[in-house]
Amino acid sequence: MSLEIRSPKYERASITIPEEVAHLQKSFNGTICSNKGDEYAINNNIIDLLGDDPVSMSLAQSSNHWKVTAALYEDIWRKRSLSILTGEEFPIEKERELLMDWLHLQPGKLYLDIGCSTALYGRLIKKAQPDCDVVSLDFSKQMLQEARLKSEAEEVDTYLLRADARHLPFFGATFDGLTMGGTLNELTDPLKVLYEARRVIKKDGTFFMMHLVKAEAWYARLLQDSAEFGGIKFWDIAESNTMFERAGFSIADQFSRGIVCFSKLNPA
Ligand SMILES: C[S@@+](CC[C@H](N)C(=O)[O-])C[C@H]1O[C@@H](n2cnc3c(N)ncnc32)[C@H](O)[C@@H]1O
Repeated sequence: MSLEIRSPKYERASITIPEEVAHLQKSFNGTICSNKGDEYAINNNIIDLLGDDPVSMSLAQSSNHWKVTAALYEDIWRKRSLSILTGEEFPIEKERELLMDWLHLQPGKLYLDIGCSTALYGRLIKKAQPDCDVVSLDFSKQMLQEARLKSEAEEVDTYLLRADARHLPFFGATFDGLTMGGTLNELTDPLKVLYEARRVIKKDGTFFMMHLVKAEAWYARLLQDSAEFGGIKFWDIAESNTMFERAGFSIADQFSRGIVCFSKLNPA
């Protein structure tokens, strides 16, 4: 299915992305433009809504724009991270089961992964339900290039969109499901992004959230406090729930292990 997005420049203007852009086995290059005439490049299937415009970001966020971080992120850190942070054996397979259980994927539906990095969730979704469409969104070109390599290698088609989650380039009630894995903690404006998520999700949609919460042990808190200097924030579960509710979500299900918290959010 082609994808309709909202122009980042003109709120009422739409841009249609041809279906071929998501077919990663074939390189797609070109420009797309809204019905108001603003143009954006597609480079090797990556739809770039940001171009060379400077984007404000924290130190933690800027490290995601280094090629080395993007290249090593998934294999060196992501695959092990939940076992380290939960304190128990927690392979990607376990996370995948929860994702499938809560998202309840359906053919013909549209899903968005916000702050996708290497498109791990997008790939899991598309492999489980090949007849749906997935948009993997990040503002790091380097992460999206790595997402492209991994998705192509696994023969998974996905729209790769370079955009800022603080201004999601979609019309209201576009998505049947949203995911956000670990991104909440590094957002400079988490509430703004949650409001945006609430705007673009359909009334009966589900938002799969994985984020890190405050540690209980004092030594772990010390580490978290120092990470906060780099722009990574931690909340306790009650504080995060207040934030989810303020943005217009209700908590349909939730569990935490160690400092990892999984939440199933629905529009309230
Ligand atoms: C912790 S990583 C996400 C990991 C990924 N979701 C996963 O499950 O493996 C956070 C990602 O969010 C992206 N990000 C942070 N702030 C963003 C923003 N305002 N807009 C778009 N992407 C953002 C970063 O570039 C980074 O790739």
